[in-house]
Amino acid sequence: MVGLLKRKFPKATIIHGDACKLETFLSEEQKSNISSVVSTIPFRIASASDKDKIIRAAFSVLEDGGNFVQVSNYYPSRNFSYKEYGLYSQYIGWDWGSWWFPSFSFSYSKKKVD
Ligand SMILES: C[S@@+](CC[C@H](N)C(=O)[O-])C[C@H]1O[C@@H](n2cnc3c(N)ncnc32)[C@H](O)[C@@H]1O
Repeated sequence: MVGLLKRKFPKATIIHGDACKLETFLSEEQKSNISSVVSTIPFRIASASDKDKIIRAAFSVLEDGGNFVQVSNYYPSRNFSYKEYGLYSQYIGWDWGSWWFPSFSFSYSKKKVD
């Protein structure tokens, strides 16, 4: 995945690391203007502790009003209990992608999107 991204997007900064520690990979400058974090981490099988770390790490670097997008190839209610984090959920869409089961994308944000 990392090799593919580096080949396809040679100008992009590709960081290979644990999403639970996202904030440790970013400079102060990088942290200052992040509007979206997109995750394809399999939340259905991730531990509750890892999910909690990933969500907290994402929102610690997201700008005000930023969103955390989770792409999952299973029913989205199994992502995480977003209301416990004071988040709102918005359905983005689905796609067949390259998987045998459709992928559903949801956006989570601290601000309600109408
Ligand atoms: C379903 S695969 C998705 C792969 C790829 N992103 C895609 O969309 O085709 C899930 C990936 O999440 C990675 N992953 C799981 N936990 C992670 C974590 N805490 N930090 C970073 N990556 C993680 C796994 O190594 C795996 O490559």
